[in-house]
Amino acid sequence: MNDDRAWVSEAIRKLEADFNRSADTHLFEIDLPGLRNIDIYIKDESVHPTGSLKHRLARSLFLYGLCNGAIAEATTIIEASSGNTAISEAYFARLLGLPFIAVVPRSTSHQKVEQIQFYGGKVHFVDHAVEVYDASQRLAIETGGYYMDQFTSAEKVTDWRGNNNIAESIFRQMSKETYPIPHWIVCSAGTGGTSATLGRFVRYQRNATKICVADPENSVFYDFYQSGDRNLTLQSGSRVEGIGRPRVEPSFIPGVIDTMIRVPDVASFAAIHVLEEILDRRFGGSTGTNIFASLQLAGAMAMAGKHGSIVTLACDPGERYADSYFNQKWLVDNGYDIEPCRRKLLSFIETGIWDFPPD
Ligand SMILES: Cc1ncc(COP(=O)(O)O)c(C=O)c1O
Repeated sequence: MNDDRAWVSEAIRKLEADFNRSADTHLFEIDLPGLRNIDIYIKDESVHPTGSLKHRLARSLFLYGLCNGAIAEATTIIEASSGNTAISEAYFARLLGLPFIAVVPRSTSHQKVEQIQFYGGKVHFVDHAVEVYDASQRLAIETGGYYMDQFTSAEKVTDWRGNNNIAESIFRQMSKETYPIPHWIVCSAGTGGTSATLGRFVRYQRNATKICVADPENSVFYDFYQSGDRNLTLQSGSRVEGIGRPRVEPSFIPGVIDTMIRVPDVASFAAIHVLEEILDRRFGGSTGTNIFASLQLAGAMAMAGKHGSIVTLACDPGERYADSYFNQKWLVDNGYDIEPCRRKLLSFIETGIWDFPPD
């Protein structure tokens, strides 16, 4: 075997060894006294070694690049990210001894920037979310490096038939529950890779589970899902880090999504404060978006007299948002009065009556 191939083989062995050392993420049930025979579970992806659901994607992106012959010894890795993917990719780049450059919007939380740098990554800032693509392309040309391009590749690099993807893990962990086949799995979308994997897996497994994608404000996904217009764009980016996009990303696959819910940002932020009260755990904004949509679906199931389970995702830890979603001054300065929604959610948890305006 020549040296290049030997290096690639050793790199793949290191990635597989890292995977072999890692445990799977937990699935836990949340207690909702007001809901009878409707069980809600959270798949906690914040406990991955790099702290988010992006740990899975980053590993798949590296394996894809290595097995495609696109990554070799000393290749500079470049990625466009809202932070979490870059943190996970910086971790794997360090594992393989490769230089890494993250292209992130200037608004990205400093906690995330510091974590990218902790793993030896360099950070290239752009002023607006829409600028990350071109800046990454340019850097790849200037450095002769490899642009991972999660937004295009996410739906391609993940094995949706199994191989311990997030869907297979959820169904394995649900197998001994009262309602082992979830009625709904709820996630949100940044690249769209997670919803693509979930939607393809449930169809491949031929079970009745439906996929709901929750979308924040300042995102084109919900409108695209309704209209089919792939050319929709927005100038400003989403305020819920990690999800919602100013353009329809190539990895967003509407055909595997059964419904979408648009969640107001104030509701996403109120929901993570409610989670902190009932679980004593802090999660990021996208977890709030997921939980709000899951509770809305549970309210609709209760109204319809349906029984079953709903699974959703906790995507990253709230510690990354101590200066924003968990900072009262930031919430007030940005016009987010979470109190009315927080109270309504707590009342729903007690009564099972969903008292919010229709979607
Ligand atoms: C915190 C968080 N939640 C959810 C997502 C959405 O995941 P996906 O890119 O698979 O759609 C991301 C993606 O970056 C994220 O960072």
